Amino acid sequence: MTRTCVRYACQGCGHESAKWLGRCTECGEWGSLVEVVVEPVAASAGAARLVAPRNVPIPVADVDGLGAAHMPTHVPELDRVLGGGLVAGSVTLVGGEPGMGKSTLLLQALGQLAARGARCLLVCAEESAAQVRLRADRLGTLAPELFVVSEPSLPAVLAHVADCEPAVLAVDSIQAVHDPDGPGAAGSVTQVRDAAHRLVRLAKELDLPTLLVGHVTKDGALAGPRALEHVVDTVLSFEGDRHHALRMLRALKHRFGSTDELGLMEMTERGLVPVDDPSALFLADRRPGASGSVVAPVLEGSRPICVEVQALVVSTHAPIPRRVAQSIDASRASMLIGVLQQHAGLELSAFDVFVSVAGGVRVTEPSGDLALALALAGARSERPVDPNTVVIGELGLGGEVRQVPHAPRRLAEALRLGFTRAIVPASTPDVRGLDLARVASVREALIATGVRAR
Ligand code: TYD
Ligand code: MG
Repeated sequence: MTRTCVRYACQGCGHESAKWLGRCTECGEWGSLVEVVVEPVAASAGAARLVAPRNVPIPVADVDGLGAAHMPTHVPELDRVLGGGLVAGSVTLVGGEPGMGKSTLLLQALGQLAARGARCLLVCAEESAAQVRLRADRLGTLAPELFVVSEPSLPAVLAHVADCEPAVLAVDSIQAVHDPDGPGAAGSVTQVRDAAHRLVRLAKELDLPTLLVGHVTKDGALAGPRALEHVVDTVLSFEGDRHHALRMLRALKHRFGSTDELGLMEMTERGLVPVDDPSALFLADRRPGASGSVVAPVLEGSRPICVEVQALVVSTHAPIPRRVAQSIDASRASMLIGVLQQHAGLELSAFDVFVSVAGGVRVTEPSGDLALALALAGARSERPVDPNTVVIGELGLGGEVRQVPHAPRRLAEALRLGFTRAIVPASTPDVRGLDLARVASVREALIATGVRAR
């Protein structure tokens, strides 16, 4: 027996419930549940699938691995984050706030691919073809193999793909595509999810690399069903400050490579250009000799970048002093404050503490611990760390300085930028041209930098 069944789906997160509720039990959003009709499935369908599997299990070594070859987009920072480029049949979701440059990034990638002879189809569900033409003019990407269609209807999009037979498909944006015959309004959870499922299936059937643009809400989550992130192969996040030209591209999920490469670009009048020397960019506005400022060579993926770690320490009468961390994990910063108090005799309980990384790069690895501790101590004692010194090292709860991965690569970057001295963990090998001060504890580091008298 088949029966249509009614369920209620949250417009915020896609969670489904059998009965209507005023508040979503999953994401806590009020009034977000709407009725969705679930189409009946023939009772025999499951059984039929069981008896006739399409694929048979084979030894892993016999699987053809060539399917995962990367096709470079020739947009260098995008290729860096994707681990070489797009993979046949893969679906990549590019998420970001409005105005970040998602449409620009897509158009540049398709323009480069089309210029090399790959037929590309850009489906604009939000903009007219004329708007895209204007942007393409500006970017200088008018390759004859780049096809554009302004089309929000899903069945029509599928038909266009069948007609045009592109080598690469891009849909801008997935939230704007809808099936006029399907349930729910355009942009609703059901519609977005169904459109994504249909496009993923198409990509797999045709081995067609597909790029989808996804809008994110103010709090940074992808708008629409959370399930969207699960159905695609790769989720890229395009971030940046709208008032600055710098854009960062990261992979939040990537089935064909690592997720820890960072792509850095600048938005210019001629589109997105790669940032060739991120360290120079991040250190450009540094005021050498300021107390509370320390340079740390951190690793973003495979790339070492020198960033300025800053701390501000202000006396307060508040019973609970403030601890504010920007671009650094707040609990890590609190831990370092504890270590400094306990193992370096630095009293911070009557001070508000603010820490940040200049330029907007997030420092997530513990290799920046010692730099932050020295910035904090320098800010508290108003003694600057020598501006030609970089600092690497992880701090343990006992105040000990631990080795970090790839120290030589980080120090080579510091040397390239003209730094002459480095405060490093005890086991660090020599680096020609750099004066290394090896320290075993945070106390030794404070003395080596002169932030604290012996
Ligand atoms: P856009 O790609 O439309 O962003 P999104 O698709 O993420 O909403 O472009 C974002 C902004 O970038 C837009 O306000 C105009 C600006 N821009 C440039 O500065 N230079 C350029 O070459 C282009 C194409 C856009
Ligand atoms: Mg756009």
